Amino acid sequence: MVLNSYAKLNLYLEVLDKRPDNYHNLSTLFERIDLCDKIILKKRADRRITLTTNSSEIPGDSSNLAFRAALLLQKKNSLNQGVDIKIIKRIPVGSGMGGGSSNAATVLMGLNKLWRLKLSKNKLAGYAREIGADVPFFIYETSFAEACDRGDKIKPLKSLSQNKFWHILVVPRINVSTPLIFKLWDELKKAKIYQNHGLTLPISNVKMLTSALSKNDLFLISKTLFNSLEQVSISAFPQIRQVKDRLALLGLKSSLMSGSGPTVFSFVASRREALALNRQLKNFNSWQVFLVKTK
Ligand code: C5P
Repeated sequence: MVLNSYAKLNLYLEVLDKRPDNYHNLSTLFERIDLCDKIILKKRADRRITLTTNSSEIPGDSSNLAFRAALLLQKKNSLNQGVDIKIIKRIPVGSGMGGGSSNAATVLMGLNKLWRLKLSKNKLAGYAREIGADVPFFIYETSFAEACDRGDKIKPLKSLSQNKFWHILVVPRINVSTPLIFKLWDELKKAKIYQNHGLTLPISNVKMLTSALSKNDLFLISKTLFNSLEQVSISAFPQIRQVKDRLALLGLKSSLMSGSGPTVFSFVASRREALALNRQLKNFNSWQVFLVKTK
């Protein structure tokens, strides 16, 4: 079984407050994009789970979310079936695009078929939630979704199912730790440090962005994109600011960091425009540049 495991962008990410379980309540809007990893699942005669990958950056043991997904499914359903998982990586690791979470969701959905479990989407989303906050979004196989709680309570935005957008993505080669960025957010919040060097407040919300997206209005979209963590990540990793400045120089005044970073994306009007920008950005500062579309 060969499956595509797609990446996501957060077009809106507002951190609301810290929860007793040390996670944070969010209001977010996810977009699925066509940048993807390939996952190959092969049934085994015994009950072992193995994981191989072409990437040196992801683990091949139970610390890999995809491995954990298979293990969880096996345990919860007391199964005697095993699987060989192979992951061919293209989504940059630790980039804010949910690659590991997407791989876990794809394994849950793939094994549901391969092991003939017939579990419902809701059941799979419940397992997904146990693996990580970003995993449930990918279970719904939707282009756009609104999410709250830890970012794991998903409402697919069916009204946007026909809307497609082009983006240019720039990924500086730095490793950003998500827990560290949330910890910095906590410290800034406690010290009430706002603007420029600290926290930013939204002037928009998910509803306004959804409406702008439904109208394909790139100007309105650019005014409603928001990420509470962007300024926090920039203060720890100034390279993210460099990417945004470079994009602005190329005419992309509006860009946003996805998740806790470091990926920065912009909306572009067409594939042609994106290709031209791609040429201008390539080979700059060893950044990775991708041209992607809504999936
Ligand atoms: O769920 P996941 O393992 O992807 O989250 C990684 C880390 O990001 C968590 O351990 C937590 O520190 C932080 N996080 C958070 N609130 C969220 C999602 C993630 O604090 N809603």
